[in-house]
Amino acid sequence: MVVSPLLIGMPEMRQSSLVVVANRLPIDDSVAPDGACEWRRSPGGLVSALHPLLRHTPATWVGWAGRTGPAPTLPDVDGVRMQSVPLSTEDFRDHYEGFANATLWPLYHDAVEQPEYHRRWWEAYQRVNQRFAEVAAEVAEPGGVVWVQDYHLQLVPALLRELRPDLRIGFFLHVPFPPPELFMQLPRRAELLRGMLGADLIGFQRAQAAHNFAQLVAKVLELPATDRQIAVDDREVRVGAFPVSIDTAEMAALAARPEVAERARRLRQDLGGPEHVILSVDRMDYTKGIEQRLKAYSELIAGGHVKVRDTVLVQVAMPSRERVGQYQILRERIEREVGRINGEFGRVGEPAIHYLTQPFDRAELAALYRMADVMAVTPLRDGMNLVAKEYVAARVDDTGALLLSEFAGAAAELSQAYQVNPHDLEGLKQGLLAALQADPADLSRRMRGMREHLHEHDIRAWARSYLSALDESESLTTRLRTD
Ligand code: ADP
Ligand code: G6P
Repeated sequence: MVVSPLLIGMPEMRQSSLVVVANRLPIDDSVAPDGACEWRRSPGGLVSALHPLLRHTPATWVGWAGRTGPAPTLPDVDGVRMQSVPLSTEDFRDHYEGFANATLWPLYHDAVEQPEYHRRWWEAYQRVNQRFAEVAAEVAEPGGVVWVQDYHLQLVPALLRELRPDLRIGFFLHVPFPPPELFMQLPRRAELLRGMLGADLIGFQRAQAAHNFAQLVAKVLELPATDRQIAVDDREVRVGAFPVSIDTAEMAALAARPEVAERARRLRQDLGGPEHVILSVDRMDYTKGIEQRLKAYSELIAGGHVKVRDTVLVQVAMPSRERVGQYQILRERIEREVGRINGEFGRVGEPAIHYLTQPFDRAELAALYRMADVMAVTPLRDGMNLVAKEYVAARVDDTGALLLSEFAGAAAELSQAYQVNPHDLEGLKQGLLAALQADPADLSRRMRGMREHLHEHDIRAWARSYLSALDESESLTTRLRTD
């Protein structure tokens, strides 16, 4: 069955009844020189969501191991099989950096940066999707379930169905799905829609995305489509919103540890014991609204509304997709702006912004969340934004304020956050001030409400609702330990 040249000669693959297919594996093969592998929590929502879910589940995760060239053989991690897919340097350039992250990513995020269209990138996208489909077809047991993830792999469902009609195939998009007027720009729009329709169930973060998809299918493919189901040949494809979440209990337990609370106190001391700490944690991405946030903050200082002596901003911005031009330009602009603000408003030993580009382990992240009075999560557009949910889960004493963009998927659920339009600079400034000056009793009421919501709507609830919709039979949900 395997036809892609890069797959020839790969060792025989074992089969599983549940296969997750995502562009990235959650494990970095370079950290396993002696065979002792650990999960790598790459700073991205997809890995953060699926990692706690799959641990100790007899499943296979198909993905790319993060290095170009032949696919490494990886050991099982926490009982999960790691099946790597090879990517050549051309695949990496034209599929990952090109079509996935310079065409689809900006287009799907309201085109806040200009999407680029190149025929060579589309060829690579098809080629790489074909390879992922072939590997998934090899490792799925007869009658098994294959759950394809995200925008890098939108052609996989249809390609896989051709190879293995016996499988039950799910597709979940972690990012927004754009309105028709944007999606219609794509030169190969019909192929992308047909690719997704190979799935039995197509999941989105929000109902609006399911609606956009149904409208496009009706318009471009002229198929009968509602926001819940689409008729394709003799099949029925179901469509729906399944807002992804976090392992709420795990984050809460971590944040409640005495050593994490102590670390949060120390961090605050190290910041000079300010009255207020504002925190932001983002992948360095132009969708995250980092520049707008910095501008709002600097205007608050310049206008005398915020004093550097009393208030500090900690901005964690983990570099991402570093060879893509738009990301390089973004980093330069952010670093220039941080330098300007600190130069203008900071004092010796008292910078206005503490700027960090390092990866942190989960305990350190939990300590940062516990340290912050205000968490500023203000993306211009975001599929969900798990950082917002992690902050809420970590506030085990019901303190703290969440400032949240209304353009993050999380805004639909976290209605008690201070919601802002990040494009509206004055609104952003007012929102920050309101969060800084809020009444503790009001904050506590809001935070309790949001924590209760996340307690119920955690990552296991997400998997349960998706998988039971994929197969109404209860037996499927037992393939994952979702209880
Ligand atoms: P995205 O998927 O666009 O990156 P999310 O907010 O949904 O945005 O997910 C980001 C994930 O990456 C979160 O789980 C967050 O804890 C993690 N993360 C972000 N920055 C860092 C960092 N510097 N170190 C470790 N993890 C990080
Ligand atoms: C977002 C995407 C994920 C991606 C992650 C990190 O969360 O939805 O699919 O893995 O960003 O991006 P990267 O390009 O490093 O995989």
